Amino acid sequence: MNSKADNIVEILVTQEAIEQRVAELGGEITAAYRDRLPLLVGVLKGCTLFMSDLVKLIDTPLEMDFISLVSYGSMTRPSGAARITKDLDCVIEGRDVLLVEGIIDTGMTAGYLLRNLEARQPRSIRVCTLLDKPARRIVKIPIAYRGFEIPDRFVVGYGLDFRQIYRNLPYIGVLSDKITGLDRNAATRHPHRDSGLTRHG
Ligand code: IMP
Ligand code: MG
Repeated sequence: MNSKADNIVEILVTQEAIEQRVAELGGEITAAYRDRLPLLVGVLKGCTLFMSDLVKLIDTPLEMDFISLVSYGSMTRPSGAARITKDLDCVIEGRDVLLVEGIIDTGMTAGYLLRNLEARQPRSIRVCTLLDKPARRIVKIPIAYRGFEIPDRFVVGYGLDFRQIYRNLPYIGVLSDKITGLDRNAATRHPHRDSGLTRHG
C-alpha cells in the first residue's frame, strides 16, 4: 500500500520544529498587529497548512483572504510575468496586509504580488513566509517574518507540492531524485518550472 511519505529521503524541518517556530511567529505578529485588524493574504495553495496553523496562534482579531496565480517562464529564462487566477475577495485600500507564502525561492512570485497589491494602496504590506530559499533569489524581497531558511533543495510537505502531491505531509521533506528527476549535485533544474508554466503553492 502506498504511504504519503513514500520517496521522502530526508526530513529537513520536523513537525515539532514547525510547531515551535509557527508559535513564535504568531507571537511576533500578534505584538506587531495588535488592534490593527490585519488582513492575512494567503498565496494558494502552498500557504494553506501554514496559514491555518499560524492564524490560530495570532491573538488579535484578523481577517483572511486568498489569492492564486500562475507564472510564465522557465528556470533558465524566468520572465517575471504572472496572471492572477483567483483574486482577493476584499478591497485592501487602507488595510494592514500580511502576505503569507509557503516558500520564497527566486522571489519572482512575491515580487509580482507585492507590486500588484501595493498598487491597491494598502496602509502597509509585509511578507511572511514559512520557508526562505535565498540561494536562487533573483528579486529582492523584504521578508518581515521568516520561518526557516533552507538550502537549495526541492522540498515538499506542509502545503508544498511536487506535481500537486505531498502537500499533506506534516513536515518539510526532500523527495528522492528518482521522483524529481533532479541531480542533487547539479541542483539548478526545478521540475515545477520546466513546463514553462508554474501553478503556485
Ligand atoms: P519563486 O517565484 O521562485 O519565489 O517561487 C515561488 C513558488 O515556486 C512557490 O510558491 C512554489 O509554488 C514553488 N517552489 C519553489 N521552490 C519550491 C520547492 O522547493 N518545493 C515546492 N515548491 C517550490
Ligand atoms: Mg507547487
